[in-house]
Amino acid sequence: MEILLAGGAGYIGSHTAVELVEQGHDVIIVDNYSNSSKEVINRIEKITGKQVQAFEADIKDKTEIMSIMKETKPDCVIHFAGMKAVGESVAKPIDYYRNNIDTTLTLLECMKECNVNQIVFSSSATVYGEENDIPYVETMKRGNCSNPYGWTKYMMEQIFEDAANADENLSVVILRYFNPIGAHQSGEIGEDPQGIPNNLMPYIAQVAVGRRDHLTIFGNDYPTKDGTCRRDYIHVMDLANGHLKAVEFARDHKGYHIFNLGTGEPYSVLEIVEAFEKANGIKIKYEFGDRRLGDLTEYWADAQKAQEVLGWKTERDIEDMCRDTWNWQKNNPHGYA
Ligand code: NAD
Ligand code: WQD
Repeated sequence: MEILLAGGAGYIGSHTAVELVEQGHDVIIVDNYSNSSKEVINRIEKITGKQVQAFEADIKDKTEIMSIMKETKPDCVIHFAGMKAVGESVAKPIDYYRNNIDTTLTLLECMKECNVNQIVFSSSATVYGEENDIPYVETMKRGNCSNPYGWTKYMMEQIFEDAANADENLSVVILRYFNPIGAHQSGEIGEDPQGIPNNLMPYIAQVAVGRRDHLTIFGNDYPTKDGTCRRDYIHVMDLANGHLKAVEFARDHKGYHIFNLGTGEPYSVLEIVEAFEKANGIKIKYEFGDRRLGDLTEYWADAQKAQEVLGWKTERDIEDMCRDTWNWQKNNPHGYA
């Protein structure tokens, strides 16, 4: 299949590109590099040994996207292009609504005009909000999001649902990611956050490589066994494989479908620090700090549906996630720079 990856130069998009190319698909990466580097394209080509089509364009630019779609005639689109920093979304809500919603509408309009009928969307566990019981199941109501970023995902899911209801030819697969970490085992691609990392694993990796002095653990008074929050961390290559399955599913099924992509097994912040130390033989200096506003105590996926319907399950464990993160970071101490 020809698959257009909107935002395909980013962290999850680049790993998915490798997985798709290695499984015999052709990818077309479209990215404005607002949160990624052009070097990613060279690295994808190095890993796969294949040339990859890449276009520099803003997904909000309908003229550009129409022209790329007409030229490349994809069978399917995967929509990764979005702004994703929770804290920043509180400070800059308009930017988040503009970019995330507008990219979605533009892609759907261009797809309709170019007769492209399959789309896979990067959603997030954040749409389960603050009031659902754990583990999260796809049938639960979404809402009560704690920040504008989460609301953009909530709204985009609604847009896709309405679009699928109105167009019997459309296939929409919503993938709700839990906490993606890790890197491709080659160490050629990985997560390269700009500035101070917001997320746990990139922060730990930067402490390990000496770019940060120590990790601050946000709260040790949560009602968990060690007092720190628990999350469902998933290896980014398992997540990439989930996209492969989703694309194949979209080809054969019309309508609107939602899948959790998580392992179903939560780890606490302290357990992650310990796992990283053990996997890599490196001590991570940390201090306990205040709770971070908006953090939930714990959540994880019920991952049954993806297993039963997509035939997908995770194959990599926490040790793989920690080892591959470090392999990427130690080989690229300053990311792609
Ligand atoms: P990322 O920032 O690394 O990748 C997003 C890519 O989209 C970047 O390359 C960026 O340059 C590009 N982009 C953004 N706006 C664009 C636009 N208007 N036009 C063209 N390109 C644009 O993020 P990621 O971690 O790879 O996440 C991919 C998707 O998955 C995002 O939608 C994110 O919200 C979602 N998601 C991520 C996580 C996570 O923890 N990483 C969890 C759940 C969901
Ligand atoms: C994990 C745990 C922190 C950094 C976020 C988004 C979510 C989804 C995935 C996009 C928490 C703790 C972190 C640090 C710490 N993204 N932590 N010190 O918040 O679970 O999820 O990314 O959709 O929507 O909210 O991930 O990696 O930021 O935090 O103690 O310096 O690590 O408090 O318990 P989170 P995270």
